[in-house]
Amino acid sequence: MLSKEQNDALTRVGPGTPMGDLLRMYWYPVAFQKDLDDWPIKKVRLLGEDFALWKTPEGGYGIMQERCPHRHASMVYGVVEPGGLRCGYHGWKFDCDGVCTDQPAEPDKSSFKENIKAFAGKAEAMGGMVWVYIGPDPAPELPRFDVFVDPGFKDAGHSVLPCNWLQIMENSVDPHHVEWLHGNYFRFIGEQKGFVAPTGFQKKHVKVGFDAMEWGILKRRVLEGNTEDMDDWAIGHPLVFPYCMRVGGAGIEQMQIRVPIDDTHTWTLFYSNHQPVGLTEFPDQIYPESYEYRWLDDKGEHIVDYIEGQDVMAWVTQGDITDRTAEHIGKSDIGVVMLRRMFREQMALVAEGKDPTVAFTREKHDRIGLPCEKDKFGVNFLEFALAWLEMGSSRYSPALDTIKKLHIDAASIRGDMPGQNLVVPGQ
Ligand code: FES
Ligand SMILES: [Fe+2]
Repeated sequence: MLSKEQNDALTRVGPGTPMGDLLRMYWYPVAFQKDLDDWPIKKVRLLGEDFALWKTPEGGYGIMQERCPHRHASMVYGVVEPGGLRCGYHGWKFDCDGVCTDQPAEPDKSSFKENIKAFAGKAEAMGGMVWVYIGPDPAPELPRFDVFVDPGFKDAGHSVLPCNWLQIMENSVDPHHVEWLHGNYFRFIGEQKGFVAPTGFQKKHVKVGFDAMEWGILKRRVLEGNTEDMDDWAIGHPLVFPYCMRVGGAGIEQMQIRVPIDDTHTWTLFYSNHQPVGLTEFPDQIYPESYEYRWLDDKGEHIVDYIEGQDVMAWVTQGDITDRTAEHIGKSDIGVVMLRRMFREQMALVAEGKDPTVAFTREKHDRIGLPCEKDKFGVNFLEFALAWLEMGSSRYSPALDTIKKLHIDAASIRGDMPGQNLVVPGQ
């Protein structure tokens, strides 16, 4: 249980808050490159602040405060030009550093523009998304995690959820929920609706482990009937500080991304790179397949007959900012306690003017590989991959059939087709 002050310190992300200052030390994806090809300016809300993001004619990206410094019209309705973004209202122009380079209605010899500076962040593309940094200079390096830069077929379901990002992150260090939410609860839903839920998730956790590491917290488990030699314990997978989780198995490499839009809204993405063992070539893609996954039905009820829909139900029904003054933390919540401690330690470093020490790098690099189990729960690879695709947010992907075929082709090349047909729920 936390005090109200402690809960506020951990959950408020606006400018000048302790968590807001820590989170501003990191890069965030805020748009798909494809969206900016369709229209070159996009409104972005990040950490409680509003920005205009634009694609430059030179092919780069810029991000600046949404409000024009002149008389505050939105720069989202501006004009993209070589060298910057021009306000639609009176034509003031700003370059990617926020420098005001033109004020066409001012007298010719005026030096007024030299006194005008807009806030501008940094923006860069990776993995088909535009990533931005809005913190203090100098910016750290954008971490080039494996999922975003490795070859494979990329697929990203996304949706904005009406809750604080921290309760989603706490779920990433809560292995017991798998056997209850995706095991027991899923079985109940299946019984009610007439399908057989996957039994792999119903296995009891006999041991869980959490280790602080360079990029966050490594989470490990041993399920009933399995051993410590298996990938679930020997490798595990990490919560990637401060707003992601790396997960996967059986040729699916996924980053779950939770971008704090503001205190009570989070942009969630399930970004997968499909690279099943046995395949070296993948269908051509300019950008990842991107689509909205559904989590509410037409009546406004949570959709709970698939894995991530169950997670979303748990995240959102905790409340917009869950009231941690009234919670009851038990021994099984040890990972949650560890994560809160890590946040407090990192907030304290930033408050002292230091860099964070977790998931923060100033070193130039091409790729960062993260540990992640391949053999998940000891289930046949193709069986696991198809269950993930049918019973996860990928079921909303326009590329679902293409992705399934990739995994089936790879299994036939490897010679390890499953011995039985899967029973999967309908849409
Ligand atoms: S409000 Fe932007 S130029 Fe006047
Ligand atoms: Fe889950």
